[in-house]
Amino acid sequence: MQVPLVVALIACAISQALGAGVYTQRFLDQYSKIHNASNGYFSKEGIPYHSVETLMVEAPDHGHETTSEAYSYYIWLEAMHGALTKDFSSFNTAWETMEKYIIPGHQDQATNSFYHADKPATFAAEQDLPSQYPSPMESGVPVGHDPIADELKSSYGSPDIYGMHWLQDVDNIYGFGNAPGVCEGGPGTAGPSMINTFQRGPQESVWRTIPQPTCDSFKYGGKNGFLDLYVGDSNYAKQWKFTAAPDADARAIQGAYWAGQWAKAAGKEAEVSATLAKAGKLGDYLRYALFDKYFKKIGQCFNRNTCPGGTGKDSAHYLLSWYYSWGGATDTSGGWAWRIGDGSAHFGYQNPLAAYALANDPALKPKSPTAADDWTKSLERQLEFYAYLQTQEGAFAGGATNTWNGRYDSPPANLTANTFYGMVYDWEPVYHDPPSNQWYGMQAWSTDRLAQYYYVTGDAKAKALLDKWVAWVLANTKFDGDKYELPSSLEWKGIPASYSGGAPHVNPDLHVTITESSADVGIAASTARTLAYYAAKANHTEAKTAAKKLLDGMWTLYQTGKGVAGKEVRKDYNRFAEKVYVPSGWTGKYPNGDTIDSTATFITLRSFYKKDKDWAKVEAYLNGGPAPEFTYHRFWQQADVALAQGAYGLLFNE
Ligand SMILES: *[C@@H]1O[C@H](CO)[C@@H](O)[C@H](O)[C@H]1NC(C)=O
Ligand SMILES: *[C@@H]1O[C@H](CO)[C@@H](O)[C@H](O)[C@H]1NC(C)=O
Ligand SMILES: *[C@@H]1O[C@H](CO)[C@@H](O)[C@H](O)[C@H]1NC(C)=O
Repeated sequence: MQVPLVVALIACAISQALGAGVYTQRFLDQYSKIHNASNGYFSKEGIPYHSVETLMVEAPDHGHETTSEAYSYYIWLEAMHGALTKDFSSFNTAWETMEKYIIPGHQDQATNSFYHADKPATFAAEQDLPSQYPSPMESGVPVGHDPIADELKSSYGSPDIYGMHWLQDVDNIYGFGNAPGVCEGGPGTAGPSMINTFQRGPQESVWRTIPQPTCDSFKYGGKNGFLDLYVGDSNYAKQWKFTAAPDADARAIQGAYWAGQWAKAAGKEAEVSATLAKAGKLGDYLRYALFDKYFKKIGQCFNRNTCPGGTGKDSAHYLLSWYYSWGGATDTSGGWAWRIGDGSAHFGYQNPLAAYALANDPALKPKSPTAADDWTKSLERQLEFYAYLQTQEGAFAGGATNTWNGRYDSPPANLTANTFYGMVYDWEPVYHDPPSNQWYGMQAWSTDRLAQYYYVTGDAKAKALLDKWVAWVLANTKFDGDKYELPSSLEWKGIPASYSGGAPHVNPDLHVTITESSADVGIAASTARTLAYYAAKANHTEAKTAAKKLLDGMWTLYQTGKGVAGKEVRKDYNRFAEKVYVPSGWTGKYPNGDTIDSTATFITLRSFYKKDKDWAKVEAYLNGGPAPEFTYHRFWQQADVALAQGAYGLLFNE
């Protein structure tokens, strides 16, 4: 017992010796709330939950699920903890936890050796509505060549993919029991369980999804497991499949980059070098996000039958797209495997700092021979993408796609006349319920990375984009004592002018309107951090003052026992009663016995919610009462608050 006590006393002495300022001390305070076991942020395995609270529906459909997003924030949080304590062991632990639980192990993707880079996947069209699924496989549609599979395999001596799956049922509440190395072990299985939700087009919000296991052995669901809800085929094979959320993998790399910089400053580079090499490996595989979904050629890809498959790298748009996915048969004797990228990119997912780090930082250098070159191109293309999408006012509009409607349809003429490297503008890439660029948070998240990139490099292109964005956000942030208000919902008008790089870009016909404001602590934190990095490099007093006021305001007004959080009224929780489309005649079961058929609603597919301690509030609302109120502690928000306070403290020595 003596050793831990001594270690704790030394750690305590170190943190005092460092003479934390007001803001770095706030980081440490918030950090200890997040790590206080009685606050419930982590599972017994040490996995960060999406939120402390269990009754929680937004992108995940339960608070004790987790996402690759939460793991990426955890890694970044521990990197900054290292900066302040000069001890990077918890950063290494965060990466190990991520690797162990949310990067599929070999057992979970055992048939990659059957993958053919010349035929990455069979085309199936995305449909407009969930009710148009299953979508048939169309083997006649040309697909391209996967130009990175071979070099990845030889760089790492394995055909397996090193990428985070995006969603995990940490408490195995659905009961699939897809724990590491286990396929549908069932409700009694220990450990987190990999699941997936969205798979039926842009109108399939969380309220309309049918959660399913990543490894489908037909034990649950219908006679073909869950497969025939999505893809129409003549027969179905048992299979596994995973989907990465590229912004999260990029954020983990960004956190590792900072860990490297801070460790270097503390003379502790050797402590983190093995983890940084793994971050470089994650970035090597993350290149799948830079390619079109079916590796078709980028640009004017307006007909699925005539748009050709790519050769070499001409299927790369070099942007961080919405996902990449991989899967295969579970039968290791007669296997097959597939991979897809994504032809749609949202500005909100871009991460120029991660691209810069992968292209330039020797500690993070991916092993594959063409990886640094790909990330160099990606960095340039991302900066051009921001320019293409910047409104007159300064905010950034949606994104661009190589696959209109998710099936290479011919876009309207106003869009084909104004392309980005031959891709067309999309004001709401990928999902429409709600529109994917309505939430102001995308602005704060993405410009934060742009500002950090600018802080590190001083790149004038990044500065020009930020000058305009910062002016917009400063003009639209209101303060009244400790109170603050930021934009929260945005609307878009017009179309960007064509751009394929080169001269500075202007968009006379692209506009944003702010339709709602809020004091949300998570996006206030991201905004404050953006302003702080920008102010530190550009010597911009007004941005620095606004950052400080946001940080002080949230700290004064929104302290809870568990962190920093405000109340939310969830009017959307009437959608617990919303109908979920299941084809007529299709019937299946969840592990707990819940029936899946054409009478399904959100709650009938999730009867476990009726046992939740907060269910009564939702039930009362469904029966005509007031909309329920929650004070949520989301892991990403709480980490974001800590990281914003700490970054301000580190940048300004306060
Ligand atoms: C952890 O949280 C509990 C409950 O809020 C509190 O009583 C306790 O003092 C905290 N522990 C530490 C080490 O801060
Ligand atoms: C482009 O044209 C289509 C009709 O062809 C129209 O519905 C759409 O609103 C236009 N887009 C923009 C952004 O103006
Ligand atoms: C930063 O700006 C202030 C005025 O706002 C000025 O006094 C100071 O010299 C500037 N510092 C640098 C390093 O440019």
